[in-house]
Formats: sequence, C-alpha cells, structure tokens
Amino acid sequence: MNNVMKKTGIVLLVLVLLVGLGACSRTVNTMERIADNDRVIMGTNAEFPPFEYRDETGAVAGFDVALAEEIAADLGVELVIEDMDFNALIAALNSGKIDFVAAGMTVTEDRLENADFSVAYFDASQVIIVQADNTDINGADDLVGKRIGVQEGTTGDLEASEIEGVEMFRYRKGIDGIMDLKNGNIDAVVIDGQPAGVFVQLNADLRMLDDALTVEEYAIAVRKGDSAFLSSINASIERIKASGRYQEIYDEYIEQD
Ligand code: ARG
Repeated sequence: MNNVMKKTGIVLLVLVLLVGLGACSRTVNTMERIADNDRVIMGTNAEFPPFEYRDETGAVAGFDVALAEEIAADLGVELVIEDMDFNALIAALNSGKIDFVAAGMTVTEDRLENADFSVAYFDASQVIIVQADNTDINGADDLVGKRIGVQEGTTGDLEASEIEGVEMFRYRKGIDGIMDLKNGNIDAVVIDGQPAGVFVQLNADLRMLDDALTVEEYAIAVRKGDSAFLSSINASIERIKASGRYQEIYDEYIEQD
C-alpha cells in the first residue's frame, strides 16, 4: 500500500467513525442536554382546552402542562413550553427544537413511525358537534356528504376525511371551526371529546352528539430511540398515577358531568 492509499484509508475510517458517533449521540443526548441546560422543552398547541390553552395571564396552562410539570420536577429541571401549530409538533421534535410533545396527542400507527410514545395517560375519542337545533345529523352515518370542520392534522381530520362525499374544512385552531359552525358555514365539527365539552359548554347554540367516532389514547411523544428519556417519562406517569397526583390533576382540569 502506498502512502496516499494509507492516508485515504485513515481519512475514510475517521469519517465512518464520526458518522456513527453522530447517529448514536442523537439518541443519547437528550438526557444530557436536559441536565446541561437545566430545562426540558415541551412542545404543544395551546388551542385544546382543557389539555392546553392560554389562561387569563396569557400563560399556557392545562392538564398536559400539569403533567409536564411533574415530569420536569422528576428530572429536577425547569419546564419550558413551545406553543406551535399542531401539525408542526413531530417535525419540531425531530429537529431538536423541543424535547417532547404533550398535546393531547393520540398514538397512531403513522405517528409511531416518526416518534416513540410513552404509556397512555388519557382515554379519548372523536365526537361530533352540531348546531343545537340541527335535527339532520344524529350520528356518524348522517355525516355523509356534509361540510365538516376539523383541526388540521388531527385524528379528527383523518377520521372525518374517510367519510363518503364530505367537504372538509381544515382549520389551524379547533375554535375557528366552532366559529364557522355557529355561523352556519359548516354542518359539523369533529374533534376530541374533552375540548368538545368545553366548547359546547361555552356555546349554548351548539350540542355534542352522544356517539363517539373513535376510541383513542393520548401519550407523550419523544424522538425515536430516546429510550432513557422515555423511561424517565414513563416512570413519572406511573408515579403520579400511583400517588394520587394524577387524580388531583384530573379533578382540576377535566370536566365533571
Ligand atoms: N387527539 C387528536 C390528535 O392527536 C387532537 C389533538 C390536538 N391537540 C392540540 N393540542 N391541538 O390528533
């Protein structure tokens, strides 16, 4: 082997090692980064009461925030919240802008390809909201051919889009769909049961149908392969469930009716 070949070989070897290291560090670094920065960054979309919304002071509050506070406390660091479009959350996670997603996010097959999920922390469903005096729509079957509003990129969007002949209206915020429903621009909104309950309670001219369209579970999303961080989150969720803290958070934020 001449010298040039040897040198080229060494350079190649170093490159391969560096690329390998880079691939590993992505999965190992979250815990270190959290410890080094003394903070953990939650990504959410604060348009989803009672899980995340802006309170009187303009701060992001809700069930997911309370849960995330417990996770941060267990890590011994400060919780920082990044509020963005729901659609942007998984990309923000994978680009490293945020450390985890807590956004009433349903575990789905598709999302599992781009993120890992914690143990489930809430049972949810998609429901239908119509104008209170609507006699036409009484269940999912009546949605055929109707104008349906959803928050873009949600499971409600996916589910409603499957219905035959529907005209889809996709909004950045669920509340914008609610406004369009009140104005008669659309026939129904398909959205998660808890926010639906909040919106209907605030709008006497709307009602929620009894039959749910789906059965879903919310969980916290982390980057794929981020296993140490995921274990820590799962331990926090199990801890608060066992300690009664989960029930306290539930009682504080979830509508009792
Ligand atoms: N559960 C639904 C989903 O995962 C909707 C979640 C919307 N969350 C929010 N913070 N806007 O697609």
